[in-house]
Amino acid sequence: MSYILAIDQGTTSSRAILFDGALRLVAQAQEEFPQIYPAPGWVEHDPRDLWSSVATVARAAVDRAGIDAREIAAIGITNQRETALIWDRATGQPIHNAIVWQDRRTADLCRDLVTAGHETTITARTGLLLDPYFSATKVKWLLDHVEGARAKAEAGELLFGTVDTFLIWKLTGGRAHVTDATNAARTMLFDIGRGVWDAEICGLLGVPMAMLPEVKDCAAPFGMTRADLFGHEIPILGVAGDQQAATCGQACFRPGMMKSTYGTGCFALLNTGAEQVTSRNRLLTTIAYQLGGQRTYALEGSIFIAGAVVQWLRDGLKLIREAGETHALALSTDPGQDLMIVPAFTGLGAPWWKPEARGAVFGLTRNSGPADFARAALESVGYQTRDLLEAMRADWGAGAEGVLRVDGGMSASDWTMQFLADIIGAPVDRPVMRETTALGAAWLAGMQAGLYPGPDEFAANWALDRRFEPRMDEATRSTKYARWGRAVQAVMAV
Ligand code: G3P
Repeated sequence: MSYILAIDQGTTSSRAILFDGALRLVAQAQEEFPQIYPAPGWVEHDPRDLWSSVATVARAAVDRAGIDAREIAAIGITNQRETALIWDRATGQPIHNAIVWQDRRTADLCRDLVTAGHETTITARTGLLLDPYFSATKVKWLLDHVEGARAKAEAGELLFGTVDTFLIWKLTGGRAHVTDATNAARTMLFDIGRGVWDAEICGLLGVPMAMLPEVKDCAAPFGMTRADLFGHEIPILGVAGDQQAATCGQACFRPGMMKSTYGTGCFALLNTGAEQVTSRNRLLTTIAYQLGGQRTYALEGSIFIAGAVVQWLRDGLKLIREAGETHALALSTDPGQDLMIVPAFTGLGAPWWKPEARGAVFGLTRNSGPADFARAALESVGYQTRDLLEAMRADWGAGAEGVLRVDGGMSASDWTMQFLADIIGAPVDRPVMRETTALGAAWLAGMQAGLYPGPDEFAANWALDRRFEPRMDEATRSTKYARWGRAVQAVMAV
């Protein structure tokens, strides 16, 4: 029993990674699944795709490793957060597609709740802002719009879950309706200070509490898989939302440590320890992890467009054929050109929270070409990260350590990471092991299984691939960042 299977159910693909007893990656499998856009600003996933892609990659990873599934000590699950599902308790049948975290259909409802004066209480209890991003208003929308749903929910016939809960329900054959504290913290229904579902917020949104899953630590017994899936039952022993799993995978266990993950979007988390810091700069307060009943909190900044800006160069503008070309292009730009892209394609996330903002390009000349667009796209990721770090420093000043740990697809780009270090004016550390999200989930499950060490020893094994030291002079940095600030203000004003 010396392997751990990590399942990472993300926004665009499902992945499974098998780790051995020394936390080495042994085999992996990945499958993309369709995105459903029923209306502008709406994003859904078919629950059958979520489940079938997870079942396929889990089996494929085990097959590729050529091991017997009996050698797997435990499964760890990590997932796209906030995405909401409701299904029938008796049949297991979802009542609707999953409403994805990016979906903006409840923007009006959120505005009404703000106008009615509910944001202060909701933020104080949940650490979140009243934004369609979180699960709660999606659940209300489903109960209000799917015929008969509300009556069934009130009769205790329907169950709600984020993606982790839904997958555990499927994996256990409907024997467990559970989640972990980090996923619960993203629903906007959970009191993160007391660690319980909030009856008042549930009442306000008309969400019957009988629909809600039991909330557990991140390392805990979540249930046993159906025997037919892998040939025998395997315990699920670790669960965390993907950004929180990456925080664990990056071993950001000390207050003041922070990580930033560059996927489609970018999510930066600053560990604030036992202290639930309330942001004065529109960051989120969230649970970083909960172990042994102890909650560790984080300040989180969420940017919706990071890697997606490179996809736009490829699929929208057709300036490149593959993402990797961006870096060579960025290197070849004329330093005299100073293009700036504010990629507010789906509005601006933290710290601006302006869902109706849209993107802009500044500084165009007749000589502006593909290389300048490529460089501006990569630089936009650095500028946005600095916005988050500025807000974190303002909220928790001296607490934040100077170094930023990075992971995710874009962290592979030396050029982008160097610019990031330059513009934030602090070192950027890239680990050898960049599959930090899956690693975090595997570590939680493996620790609970008694296979992996506790936080201190795990942290001691974190290994640096490369440190990017800031090389830009302070005057250039200030001038560039001030220009970015003006560009964002212009976007907000239009
Ligand atoms: O909050 C949304 C986040 O969890 C999604 O992450 O990596 O699936 O885009 P990802």
